[in-house]
Amino acid sequence: MTRRAIIALVLLVALAGGGAFGLQKWAARVEAPQAQGIGGAFSLIDTDGRPITDRDLLGRPTVMYFGFTYCPEVCPTTLGALTQWLGVLGPDADRLNVVFVSLDPERDTPKALKAYLSSFDPQIRGLTGSVETIAATAKAYRVYYKKVPTKDGLYTIDHSTAIYLFDSKGNFVAPISYGETEETAVPKLKALLQSGSILWW
Ligand code: NI
Repeated sequence: MTRRAIIALVLLVALAGGGAFGLQKWAARVEAPQAQGIGGAFSLIDTDGRPITDRDLLGRPTVMYFGFTYCPEVCPTTLGALTQWLGVLGPDADRLNVVFVSLDPERDTPKALKAYLSSFDPQIRGLTGSVETIAATAKAYRVYYKKVPTKDGLYTIDHSTAIYLFDSKGNFVAPISYGETEETAVPKLKALLQSGSILWW
């Protein structure tokens, strides 16, 4: 039996156990991150050009979002919402890593990213890198993105829009979908802060 088959069997048994909520929680905590396959190692640079890896984020829950500074709507809307939610959390927000990873490393230099992020909560840290390191990071985090030429001879980028939440050990725990409001997003962030690990929606 492959590891994946064993995981599936454990989950099936746990779910079939009806009322075995403890076991469900256990199965989710132990296997969900691998089953979801979101996350892993990365090696990028921050807006001051300093190297940052996934290991630098460990020890705190992490809120992670992928986008680009030329994004006409989805990214500014999401970063605006994040800024608002961090304000609602108040001082508790200081216990989170909040990271914006560029999907447009050719235009999003550390300097450009820094200028762009100055419009949002200062806690949001910008990460960029080379075309190759960004591609590797997007793959590890299962982020879809694609360059699309525009009429003016430039390009825009189609990209996935979910915000990812990771526990303090780097395990993926839940997404916040594009368009979610404070009503659902802030409780997720509070739960992430409280548990640091398991979320079971
Ligand atoms: Ni965007």
